[in-house]
Amino acid sequence: MTLWQGRFAEGPADELLAFTESLSFDRRLALDDLAGSRAHVAMLARVGLLTGEEATLVHTALDRVGTELLDGTFEFAPADEDIHTAIERRVTELAGPAGAKLHTGRSRNDQVATALRLFFRREGTDVARHVHRLQQVLVASAEAADDVYLPGYTHLQRAQPVLLAHHFLAHFWAFARDVERWRDALGRADVSPLGAGALAGSSLPLDPDGVAAELGFARRFDNSMDAVSDRDFVAEALFVISLAQVHLSRLGEEIVLWSRDEFGFLRLADAYSTGSSMLPQKKNPDIAELARGKTGRLIGDLAGFLATLKGLPLAYNRDLQEDKEPLFDALDQHRLALGAIAGLLASAEIVPARMQAAADTQHSAAVDLAEWLVQRGVPFRDAHARVGELVRHSAERGVPLDEIVLTEPDLGPDALPLLEPGAAVLRRTSPGGAGPASVAEQLIKARARLDEQERWLQLPG
Ligand code: ARG
Repeated sequence: MTLWQGRFAEGPADELLAFTESLSFDRRLALDDLAGSRAHVAMLARVGLLTGEEATLVHTALDRVGTELLDGTFEFAPADEDIHTAIERRVTELAGPAGAKLHTGRSRNDQVATALRLFFRREGTDVARHVHRLQQVLVASAEAADDVYLPGYTHLQRAQPVLLAHHFLAHFWAFARDVERWRDALGRADVSPLGAGALAGSSLPLDPDGVAAELGFARRFDNSMDAVSDRDFVAEALFVISLAQVHLSRLGEEIVLWSRDEFGFLRLADAYSTGSSMLPQKKNPDIAELARGKTGRLIGDLAGFLATLKGLPLAYNRDLQEDKEPLFDALDQHRLALGAIAGLLASAEIVPARMQAAADTQHSAAVDLAEWLVQRGVPFRDAHARVGELVRHSAERGVPLDEIVLTEPDLGPDALPLLEPGAAVLRRTSPGGAGPASVAEQLIKARARLDEQERWLQLPG
C-alpha cells in the first residue's frame, strides 16, 4: 500500500520501489521524524483539527513506534519507501482513524526537511564537539612541548626554527575557524520548515510558529516554497566538513613525514599504528594516511551534492532525496577521522633531539644575520644580498658559516651568538611569531577560545 493509492489503479512496480526507496539509508532519521510528528500532532490538537482524544491515541502510537524502532521489533513492510512512510503506516495500524489524521496539513516535503534539520542540529553539534576535542589535544601538546623547537618549512625546505608549540597551535587556529563555521552553519539551519506543506502552505489553520518553538527551532520559514526546497544547510555542512577534513589531511601529511625514519620527529603509539602483513619491521601511520585519503571522498560528497542541486527548479524535486547519503557519509567519516587523529596525537611521543638537530643548522639563522645588519642601519635588501653571499661561500667552500661570519668586518664575533643552537627561535619576538613570548600569549588566547567554544557546545568545562 502506498501513501498515494487513491489516484492510482495499479500498485508500484518492483523496479520503481527498488530504485526510488530511501528507507535503506533514511532510517537514521527515525527519531527525528517522530519528534516532528509529535510537534505536528500537538499543534493539530491545539488548533482543533484533532480532538484531545485523537491526539492522545496518535501520541501513544508514536511512542510505541519509537519503542519498536529502538528495540528492533519494528516490522518494515515491502512498500515502505522511506522511514516517514513506514512510521505513518505503523501509526495508522496502531491508532486507526486517528492515525489517519497524522498527515493533516503536512506533506513529506516539509516533513523530510524538518527531520533532516533536526538530525543536522544534533549531529552537526556533535561533530563540532569532535573538532573541539582535537583542539584540546593540540593545546595540551603545545603546552607539553615547552621550549622544544624544530625547523619550520616552506616548500618543504627548512626555513626558520619555530617552537613546536607554535606549530601545534597553527593547526589549532585552523580548527578554531572550523568550529566558527559550524556555529554559523548551524545557526543558519535553525529554521523550521514544518507547515510549508507540499510547497504552498495550507487552507487549514496551521501554526508553524508554535511547531517551530516546540521543536526548539529559532524561527519558522518565511516562504513555503523555499522551506521545502532549501538544502543550503546540507551543502554548507558538506563544505564545513570538507575544509576541516582538508585541515586534517594537512596534519595527516605532517604526521606521515614526521614519523618516517628520515625525520624521526614523532613516534606513534602501537595502538595508533598499523603493521605490515609481510614486512615484520614495519610500523605504519595508516590513520594519518586515511585522514588524508578520505578527504578526496568528502570533497566528492560536496561536489556531487552541489551538482545535484544545480539544475533543480522550485520547489521539491525527488532529486533532493540525494541529500542524505553524502551528508551521512561526510559526518560519519569526518567524525571518525577527528577521533582517530586526536587519539594518535595524544598518544604519540615527540623526539626533541631529532627536531632540534634538524633545526640547528647555521644556515637557518641566515635571516637573523641579515636582521642584525638591518639593526645597524644596512638596508634590508643589501643585508639580504650580503648574507646570501656568505651562505653561498660557506656552501661552496665547505666552510662553516660561523668561521666566515667571524672574519667579516661588518659582522665579526658580536654576531656569532646568532648562530648558536636554539638562538634563532628565541629571537622571534614579534607578536604572533614563533618565539616563546608570543607563543605564551597565544596559549592564553587558545585556552580562552576553548572556553568560549565549550560554552557554545555546552560541554562541561
Ligand atoms: N524519501 C523522500 C525524500 O527523502 C521523501 C519525499 C518524497 N516526496 C515526494 N513528494 N515524493 O526526499
